[in-house]
This record gives sequence, structure tokens and C-alpha cells, in this order.
Amino acid sequence: MSEIRIEGIRKAFGPVVALEKVELTVPDGEFLALLGPSGCGKTTLLRIIAGLETQTEGRVLIGGRDVSALPPRKRGLAMVFQNYAVFPHMTVRENVAFGLRMQGADKARIDRQVERAAALLHIEPYLARYPGQLSGGQRQRVAVARALAVEPGVLLMDEPLSNLDALLRLEMRAELKAVLREAGTTTVYVTHDQTEAMGLADRIAVLHAGKIEQIDTPAKLYRHPQTMFVGGFVGAPPMNFFVLQSSGWVARLEGLSLACPAEGEVVLGVRGEDFEIGEGAALVVMVAEPMGSHTLITGTIAGVRTRVVAPAEMVPAAGSTVLVRPMPGRMVWMDKASGRAIAA
Ligand SMILES: Nc1ncnc2c1ncn2[C@@H]1O[C@H](COP(=O)(O)OP(=O)(O)O)[C@@H](O)[C@H]1O
Ligand SMILES: [Mg+2]
Repeated sequence: MSEIRIEGIRKAFGPVVALEKVELTVPDGEFLALLGPSGCGKTTLLRIIAGLETQTEGRVLIGGRDVSALPPRKRGLAMVFQNYAVFPHMTVRENVAFGLRMQGADKARIDRQVERAAALLHIEPYLARYPGQLSGGQRQRVAVARALAVEPGVLLMDEPLSNLDALLRLEMRAELKAVLREAGTTTVYVTHDQTEAMGLADRIAVLHAGKIEQIDTPAKLYRHPQTMFVGGFVGAPPMNFFVLQSSGWVARLEGLSLACPAEGEVVLGVRGEDFEIGEGAALVVMVAEPMGSHTLITGTIAGVRTRVVAPAEMVPAAGSTVLVRPMPGRMVWMDKASGRAIAA
């Protein structure tokens, strides 16, 4: 049982507050992505869970046990970092066995768990090689196998794929997901890449300036962002936002009358693919980019920069006008002052 509970975590580095009142529970076996822009506190939070950094306030519980005062090796977890260091002077087998050897495991157990981790990550053919004889992706698999070989209840990963090229990253992403699901490991995976978080995670915690903005499944985060930050950070292209005036529960966008759940100044959020095309408000086209599966149109509606995902066969000329209308049920309304979603 390896549930992780983070209670009231605050971390200050002198005058810099890196984390503020972070509350988070990761149920046993869940794959949670910690997503946010650079500098938002992801690594700091992961290092506090690991015991590599001490929080200013709050507690960390793993499997119901307060581990706040325990050193990393007593917390029952394993880690993979961005600059994963595999030991160059050891064979792959010795690398993967390293954590088990440190624990003083006997040879039979080491062999069994090394074989299992190597099989999961498809590195059995390279067990006798040295890291210098492997590609970057293979070395990365060795680093993950080394972490998994100890069969940790909790696995912490900090941007483990960011040093790989795009194609390899896609491949490793799919493999990691399958492997960790099979192993049933409780995982916290730090990334600034929203597509990686969406693809991998059971749930995503979005961190912004040291605070958690929203914790939800990828689908809910995408469809029902609770803040403008989440709407703008998750999804590509980012959500479009329009500041509108609502009176009599109707907001107007370029001649369109839209039913609005609030009065006064509001923000309408619409995803690029959530426009119906052919009627509605005038989108003045600046650029149309044919992407193969669709065309990405960048333009303005009432002077506001807007990105619309259109069918592939539609490639309007710059300066032309396309009529678009937000799909009913796909509009997200936010309070202008707080930047938070308005309950419909
Ligand atoms: N050892 C440290 N000393 C001082 N400030 C730090 C230290 N580590 C991190 N910070 C600051 O804390 C904030 C969060 O950093 P970090 O957790 O590394 O962010 P992320 O991993 O999301 O990019 C940043 O403002 C960073 O400069
Ligand atoms: Mg970091």
C-alpha cells in the first residue's frame, strides 16, 4: 500500500516561496503527472517527497506513515531524474542490480528482479553491455529499469524523457505507461510538457507559481479547466479567451448572442476545435497552416487573436474572412476578476 499524502506543504528558499499550501493525495497505484511551467516548483515538490529537500511546513505520508523526518533511503521509493546517471563503468546488468545490491538483497532475488525489470523494459539483449555501447533511448530504459528493479512502492520521475529526441520520447512514453501499469507502481511524474502529461497520467496536478491550480483526469482538465491558467496551459493550441460583457444572461461576441451563466464582465474560453465553421462571428484570417489532419487558422475575432482548428481541405487566404461559432456545450465561462470558472 503506497498512497502518497502531501499535507500543507510550504517551501521557502530564503525570500523565495517555491511552494504554498500544497495538498495532494496520490492513491496507491495511480500515475499522477505534476505539470507546470519552468520554475513553478515541480522539482522542489518531488525532492520533498523523496526526502532530498526539507519542507518549511507540512508533512509527507507514504503508505499512511509520516516519512517527513526519514532520509530518502528509508522512504521506500525510487527515483529517475532528467540527467539520469547510469554508471559507465558497470554493465547494464550491474547498473540494474545496483539498488538491490545496496539493499543487501541476496543473489537469487537480485537475479530474479533484474530479469523482470529488464524484460519489462526490453533490455535483456544488452545486459552484458556497457552504457557506452547503447543509444540514448536504451540508456534511458536502463535508468528506468534500475529504479523499477527494487520494486518500489513509489516511483518519482523528474522530466525523465526530456533529453531524448521527439520520436524516441513518443516511443518511451508509450512503453513507460504500459510498464508502470503492469507493475502497479504509485508514480509521480514531473513534466512541463502538457501532451506528455495528458498521454501518460491517470490524473494531472497543474502547478502554477507554487500552488496547485487543479487536479483532475486529463479529460476533465481539458474539457473543464477550473482557471484561465489551466485552460491556457493544457491543450494545443491553447484555449482562446474573449473578454465579454454579459447583461440579461447574454454575452455578445461580434454579433453573436451567447447564453451566459453570469452577469457583468466575463471571460469566454473556447478551444480551437470547438468552433462550428460556416456561420457566426467573423474571423479575419492572418495565417492558415495546413497540418495534414487539419488546418490551423490564426486570425482575429473583434480584434482578439484566435486560433481555430478547421478541416484539412479548408485553407483560407490571409486577409479573408471565415465565419465561426462556438459550439454549444463547449464554452467555458470564467469570472474576469478571479480568473476562475463559473459554475454553470
Ligand atoms: N536550492 C534552491 N535555492 C533557492 N531557490 C531555489 C532552489 N531550488 C529551487 N529554487 C527556486 O524555487 C522555485 C521552484 O523551482 P523548481 O522546483 O526547480 O521549479 P521547476 O522544477 O518547476 O522548474 C524557482 O523559483 C527556483 O528558482
Ligand atoms: Mg524542474
